[in-house]
Amino acid sequence: MKVLVTGAAGFIGYSLAVKLLARGDSVIGLDIVNDYYDVTLKEARLTHLRELGGDRFTFVRADFAQYEPLVEALSGLEFDRIVHLGAQAGVRFSITNPHAYLHSNLAGHLNMLEIGRHRGVENMVYASSSSVYGGNTKLPFAVEDRVDQPISLYAATKKADELMSETYAHLYRLPLTGLRFFTVYGPWGRPDMMMWIFTKAIAAGQPIPVFNNGDMYRDFTYIDDIIAGVMASLDNPAPDDGEVKAGGSTKPHRLYNIGNHKSEHLMRVVEILEEQIGKKAIIDFQPMQPGDVRQSFADIDAIARDHGYAPTTSIDVGVPKFIEWYKEYHGV
Ligand SMILES: NC(=O)c1ccc[n+]([C@@H]2O[C@H](COP(=O)([O-])OP(=O)(O)OC[C@H]3O[C@@H](n4cnc5c(N)ncnc54)[C@H](O)[C@@H]3O)[C@@H](O)[C@H]2O)c1
Repeated sequence: MKVLVTGAAGFIGYSLAVKLLARGDSVIGLDIVNDYYDVTLKEARLTHLRELGGDRFTFVRADFAQYEPLVEALSGLEFDRIVHLGAQAGVRFSITNPHAYLHSNLAGHLNMLEIGRHRGVENMVYASSSSVYGGNTKLPFAVEDRVDQPISLYAATKKADELMSETYAHLYRLPLTGLRFFTVYGPWGRPDMMMWIFTKAIAAGQPIPVFNNGDMYRDFTYIDDIIAGVMASLDNPAPDDGEVKAGGSTKPHRLYNIGNHKSEHLMRVVEILEEQIGKKAIIDFQPMQPGDVRQSFADIDAIARDHGYAPTTSIDVGVPKFIEWYKEYHGV
């Protein structure tokens, strides 16, 4: 199979490309390699993909939010399926940089739908986010729940992506699956996310900012479990059979949560980090941040039922694996 993976220089896109190459698929990785976080890390991921894939890995440096250049960049390249993981991620950055989200997540998502439609791909899987659940108080969050009250622009763009996708599934019968990821972590992770920020600060003996006085819960999902859910969605396009799908669509469009189905107290993760790094954290308690939610917790029944998805990595196993990689990557 030939798969176009957007965001291939990013955390999840890179991890998916590794898995696809390992099973013998060909990958076209597309990314603008922006400097939202350290470009060296993104380049290191790409170097690794080139080594792993050889002539089965093609890299395209392009901005998917600019349609004509995107079409041009992809001309002459064949692919059967698309996994659209490129985006402007991050809740807090969206408070101060709203236009980056309009560009990559709205214009970009529409452009990728257009590519999928005009290329007649067999399946397109795309990243949504657990943040669409906003301040919902019904736990765990299920794909049947209403998600009409986003509390960050990031969440609003992800919800808008789901709506645009529904329209394309209806008008063009393009098979689509939207994945609401829950706090992904693991090797080759993201330097702007809590796990990395805390690790760096604890190792350096600097204070860690803990929001809402530590009264926070997250469904932390290990990268390998996320990739298992993406692969299952990629291999099983939503059928165009008129039946009601996960998320409520009767078009070829499904929505799934991919989480670990465990809502962990933030301070428990801090404890594991302290054990693994061998230093006590200096805690700087701070108030809740705008756009942030107090708790996330994934109901994974839909993807478990349709694809047998079952996460296997608890934070007690996954966090040490992240720390092991972090030390190796930084040569410490
Ligand atoms: N990591 C998480 O915990 C998490 C949680 C929920 C949802 N998501 C979503 O999953 C997807 C992947 O996330 P990630 O953690 O790998 O993020 P990431 O930031 O590591 O990767 C995203 C990649 O997209 C690229 N990109 C951004 N705008 C682009 C554009 N206009 N054209 C081409 N490339 C562009 C960036 O350069 C980056 O390499 C994103 O859609 C994100 O919103 C991630």
